Amino acid sequence: MRIAVIGTGYVGLVSGACFSEFGTSVVCVDKDASKIERINRGEMPIYEPGLDDLVARNVKEGRLEFSTDLAASVKGVDAVFIAVGTPSRRGDGHADLSYVFAAAEEIAKALDGYAAIVTKSTVPVGTGRKVAEVVMKARPDLELGRDFDVVSNPEFLREGSAIEDFMRPDRVVVGTLDGATRGREVMRALYRPLALIEKPVLFTALETAEVIKYAANCFLATKITFINEMANLCEQVGADVQDVAKGIGLDNRIGNKFLHAGPGYGGSCFPKDCLALVKTARDAGAPIRIVESVIEVNEGRKVDMARRIVDALGGDAKGKRVGLLGLTFKPNTDDMRDSPSLAIVPALLEAGASIRAYDPEGMHEAQKLLSGIEYAADAYDALKDADVLVFCTEWNQFRSLDWTRVRQAMPGRIIVDLRNIYDPTRVAREGFTYHSIGRKAAIPA
Ligand code: UDX
Repeated sequence: MRIAVIGTGYVGLVSGACFSEFGTSVVCVDKDASKIERINRGEMPIYEPGLDDLVARNVKEGRLEFSTDLAASVKGVDAVFIAVGTPSRRGDGHADLSYVFAAAEEIAKALDGYAAIVTKSTVPVGTGRKVAEVVMKARPDLELGRDFDVVSNPEFLREGSAIEDFMRPDRVVVGTLDGATRGREVMRALYRPLALIEKPVLFTALETAEVIKYAANCFLATKITFINEMANLCEQVGADVQDVAKGIGLDNRIGNKFLHAGPGYGGSCFPKDCLALVKTARDAGAPIRIVESVIEVNEGRKVDMARRIVDALGGDAKGKRVGLLGLTFKPNTDDMRDSPSLAIVPALLEAGASIRAYDPEGMHEAQKLLSGIEYAADAYDALKDADVLVFCTEWNQFRSLDWTRVRQAMPGRIIVDLRNIYDPTRVAREGFTYHSIGRKAAIPA
């Protein structure tokens, strides 16, 4: 089998590398020559644990290559995956599909034999059909089902565990147009290694696969938002949201995953996908009001986190120093997209606080987005002279701080933990007043 993957962003690079690991011959294509050069030198454009080794091994074994030449790369392939960006369009929030359609047109012009054209980028419902139209317009000589098929194969990769998610997914979803027998066979063959480990490949209609992707992400965003609002209630009535999550999560129908209360979801998928689904649903005359509420609640929540920090400082942050640990939207990534810190930091600055921050991988990205704060060399350095320590992202290295060093670094004795990474009584015993999410504040004896 041979495939081309168009776009070496997060999804394209991880999918391409993983398919090559499955034994398929893969060429990853990107217009950006400097990016391809860097990847060829072994420098990954994204931070993803294990990706550099995976790429290096498969390049060495001759199964994985990188190119800027789309036309040459799609010659003789069984499938072309479109994994280009689909940013939210400014103004109306719709996903911007211009890169997807441009890629489809270029692929069509270069096709010299049958290929399945697969959308891997997260695209609004109906995009697959439009891709088929673009292809037929560019190449009226091609016949759908004979010379090409259009397939939707959404990704469910989590940043930080994307390789594991690709290699051992809960399921693979493949949507095709009626009669796309060859397209299905190509996809079945590409994912054959998963059959060996009994991972299901679900074949559906094209539009169904497109809906599944949005339904999955919006459901998860809803689940998180649900527990976040439960956390607010717990704080008011003296309950513990972690136990509530356990208590409901043990019900198999609910499940214990994605019930960790925090500062609100962020990242490249949930915020964008929720917005896109809401737009699609409104346009289709079937508004999904629950997701509309989720978006509103989540946005408000991020800003409200700054208010909590100010409250912990006694209601006035003027002249106060905040030591902020974690800037990325979650651990094991350098991704700052829609990170709660992007709302929290400006609100704290506005309230008159000064901030010294540290993140294990996100500093470079953060510096592009957050100005007016100091960036520290490590966690303890971030706490220098701080009145309050704030945990914003639950990086492992923040889970076992040396309390003696913390006490030496910061004169303040207040901690606001937006990720619930510590046991409240334990932290109080170390002499700190500890505020967390959905649990009672713990005060030193
Ligand atoms: C998500 C989906 O999980 C993945 O399937 C999809 O393809 C892309 O979007 P990702 O954005 O990488 O992946 O991160 P994920 O681990 O899902 O976390 C998303 C956000 O939710 C983060 O901000 C995280 O901190 C937050 N979250 C997650 C919670 O607040 N509580 C939880 O219990 C789980």
